[in-house]
Amino acid sequence: MAVAIITGASRGLGLATARALAEAGWSVVVDARRGEQLRAAADGMPAGRFITVPGDITDPPHRAELAAAARGAGPITLLMNNASRLGPSPQPGLAAYPQHDLEAVYAVNVLAPVALTQLVIADLLRAAGTVVNVSSDAAVEAYAGWGGYGSSKAALDQVSAILGVEHPSLRVYAFDPGDMRTELHQQAFPGEDISDRPEPATVVPAVLRLLGQRPPSGRYRAADLLAADLAAGEPAADQPADDQPAAREPAADDLPAGVAR
Ligand SMILES: NC(=O)c1ccc[n+]([C@@H]2O[C@H](COP(=O)([O-])OP(=O)(O)OC[C@H]3O[C@@H](n4cnc5c(N)ncnc54)[C@H](OP(=O)(O)O)[C@@H]3O)[C@@H](O)[C@H]2O)c1
Repeated sequence: MAVAIITGASRGLGLATARALAEAGWSVVVDARRGEQLRAAADGMPAGRFITVPGDITDPPHRAELAAAARGAGPITLLMNNASRLGPSPQPGLAAYPQHDLEAVYAVNVLAPVALTQLVIADLLRAAGTVVNVSSDAAVEAYAGWGGYGSSKAALDQVSAILGVEHPSLRVYAFDPGDMRTELHQQAFPGEDISDRPEPATVVPAVLRLLGQRPPSGRYRAADLLAADLAAGEPAADQPADDQPAAREPAADDLPAGVAR
């Protein structure tokens, strides 16, 4: 049974994606710092398919535990680096951005995804697997006040691009989900009514399209992937049959030369 690691899956996009994959037959190994919320998220999941490993992704022993739990569940086919830190709310301008906050943002948004990728890259290569690094439009747009989070996501984009070039047998995506009605988004817009933002579940079909169709490594926006669904005459909220990212064992010809099973 194929295994996905999804960081930050107690709520928001991580949880919505984990649910969709578990329902499609994957084993999903997930984390979040607040264990109680994470365990509560398992409610209604297919039995045994949502494996919780509470902890902070910046903590090396926790990352090792997460990787070991995933390895124990089967071949690791997908790593989705989704957990993220906004930084102070409201976000300060760069000239006044506290150094320790900047370091904390980069620790979660850049350094931890790289470290976790390093831990499981041999597994991913064996499976000709996929890395999805969850990015943001703040990585490419210069919004005032977004210098900490935005620059960290820009770094994550470049990490994704270089990893993709270094490992052509993998698919490595920087994935921009667009605005979503989540806790992180509310932190970014403190005191504002964000009820007009779409629910994270509306973005999941875009993730499934990446996993199902495996386009070349690169940067993808959910809005474009969902629009492509519409252009093909398929309802964006539905998952086209061809896109079903069914859990699968890696086929022998998926294996890059020189990588042992
Ligand atoms: N929401 C938006 O509008 C938006 C827009 C563009 C991009 N994004 C990106 O989309 C992704 C998902 O965001 P979201 O809006 O769904 O966020 P969210 O609802 O706030 O969920 C964040 C998840 O990450 C976990 N988390 C945070 N820090 C962690 C850490 N250090 N270690 C382990 N888990 C951690 C949280 O649980 P705990 O707090 O218990 O740890 C939670 O499960 C992020 O990469 C974000 O940057 C979001």
